[in-house]
Amino acid sequence: MKKDFLALSDWSREDLEKIFALTLELKAKHKRGEEHPLLKGKTLGMIFEKSSTRTRVSFEAGMFHLGGHALFLSSGNTQMGRGEPIQDTARCMARYCDGVMIRTFSQQVVEDFARHADIPVINGLTDLYHPCQVMADLFTVIEHKGNYRDLSYCWIGDGNNMANSWINAAAVFGFELRIATPKGYEPDAAVMARAEKLGARILYTNDPVEAARGAMVLNTDVWASMGQEAEQKEREKAFRGFQINRDIVAIADPGCIVMHCLPAHRDEEITDEVIEGPHSVIFDEAENRLHVQKAIMATLMG
Ligand code: CP
Ligand code: NVA
Repeated sequence: MKKDFLALSDWSREDLEKIFALTLELKAKHKRGEEHPLLKGKTLGMIFEKSSTRTRVSFEAGMFHLGGHALFLSSGNTQMGRGEPIQDTARCMARYCDGVMIRTFSQQVVEDFARHADIPVINGLTDLYHPCQVMADLFTVIEHKGNYRDLSYCWIGDGNNMANSWINAAAVFGFELRIATPKGYEPDAAVMARAEKLGARILYTNDPVEAARGAMVLNTDVWASMGQEAEQKEREKAFRGFQINRDIVAIADPGCIVMHCLPAHRDEEITDEVIEGPHSVIFDEAENRLHVQKAIMATLMG
């Protein structure tokens, strides 16, 4: 049966760890300049209903490294943008491509697409989740800290798609996570409830200091995500104080690493100084999108 990559909660820890192991191998081969054509002759369709820099480039470059080809489709230039039903688009694309990556608004769209396409479907970000990014983040943690277990993770900021995927990750992998959001900007209630049922070790607070104290991994994201641009001003007020800055870094573990999925609004959710500072692993994190997604594609489409 085909497997999709729509949410981390659909996967077991063992299978995700296999993806990390393959990532390590593919990254090493890439750095040594060795060919690794695991998807020779295969095609990935990429549907974008939102903007992207990293996701688009890393999937496209990744398919090329694997000996395959990637097609960029923006909703504005396809029949999807004119209202063609998902089930028709999905079934046709499945006849041409070996896999599809979608970035869109509703998680339901990727779920529906996956149900109707008999090829693997990868979630390249929805309003609810960003699973490829959190896989890249965890791989970066492994590189810098040796493993991802026994570390305390801290999320400061919006309870958005990234926060929801971190909650799923905490439930699947079992690490400790502390999430600080302003009141009214908590993560998705159903995602939190499911993680709790699975016994996830997560603290929810409205106090960034409580979340950051002693943490090994500090993570944040923009205050207004794609689609929320009209709320920017109101969010700037609500999120004041929910910033990763030198004071927050100072109360975290002295060996902490700082992450941000990018794009960042420097001096809003994170200071310019911290992005450029010694704790930041942000550009390794961005690079690892490439390596992790190659492993995800090779696992699903190989
Ligand atoms: N982090 C991330 O997904 O970046 P893009 O929006 O540039 O793809
Ligand atoms: N939360 C952000 C992530 C961007 C990669 C957004 O959805 O815009």
